[in-house]
Amino acid sequence: MNKPMDMGNFSEGHGAAAIFERYRRDDSPKPPQWNAVLDLMLAHRSHRAYLPKKLPEGALETIIAAAQSASTSSNLQVWSVVAVEDQARKDRLADLAGGQQHIRDCAVFLVWVADLGRLEKLGQERGREAAALPFLELFLTGAIDAALAAQNAVNALESLGLGCCYIGAIRNKPEEVTKELNLPPKVFAVFGMTVGWPDPSANAGVKPRLGQAAVLHREQYAWGEAQREAVETLDAKFRDFQKEQGLPEQGWIRQVLSRVRGPDAMSGRHRLKDALRALGFDLS
Ligand SMILES: Cc1cc2nc3c(=O)[nH]c(=O)nc-3n(C[C@H](O)[C@H](O)[C@H](O)COP(=O)(O)O)c2cc1C
Repeated sequence: MNKPMDMGNFSEGHGAAAIFERYRRDDSPKPPQWNAVLDLMLAHRSHRAYLPKKLPEGALETIIAAAQSASTSSNLQVWSVVAVEDQARKDRLADLAGGQQHIRDCAVFLVWVADLGRLEKLGQERGREAAALPFLELFLTGAIDAALAAQNAVNALESLGLGCCYIGAIRNKPEEVTKELNLPPKVFAVFGMTVGWPDPSANAGVKPRLGQAAVLHREQYAWGEAQREAVETLDAKFRDFQKEQGLPEQGWIRQVLSRVRGPDAMSGRHRLKDALRALGFDLS
């Protein structure tokens, strides 16, 4: 049975401040108690600037043990991760993922893959049918498993003082990424993750989120005034955040609507279905 964590020095007041920082709203929730896990999770921020310093011995393997401790659908364990440390390979992957500098600069670039190839191989070796593997359901299972594992890894690496940033742009050019990482059929790079020692001078901030009225629905989904207010408030709070971070002050609404405006905003990912089919995912 899980035991509640030692409260240590983590007071509820400290917790309330951490939750306030996440929402920047006076009606932010007040925690019944606070602990190191909540403190770590609420302090999450993506890091895109790293010190030129390797991970300590055993850190990667510890992080992966945490990743493997996540739940996995039917215990299928249909995910894997490729850890890239070679500078030339990181550079090539950066080129394939929109030229993002932090992929070049991180200590290790993790590529999280939906891995149905392992079960396909097992089926072939054992002479057993694995006819469910080509279905969209199994692809989704692999993608979900990879995401759950990766987020456990995020919590683990942040608890070690490391920082990270997910890289969805690894899906910009799936065929080339597959070739670079020697991925077999039915193994797909769902997202990457830069990992390293955050550069403290970059001053990455805690990014405000939508108020809970937008995301927490009780009994039935509601698109009403409360959700609208949460969106409008985040727009203003996000503008403040952008100002603090020295970013263009465009607010949240404009930024997210620009991201979903159409195929031209998808950095090549609008052709994902074709790429997946070419890589052995039938998606029946
Ligand atoms: C699946 C996924 C893909 C992402 N892809 C990228 C990316 O390619 N480049 C990047 O700089 N950030 C990327 N991010 C980071 C998000 O922009 C970031 O998580 C979001 O803005 C919230 O900021 P925070 O993580 O600091 O709270 C990605 C995040 C997720 C979850």
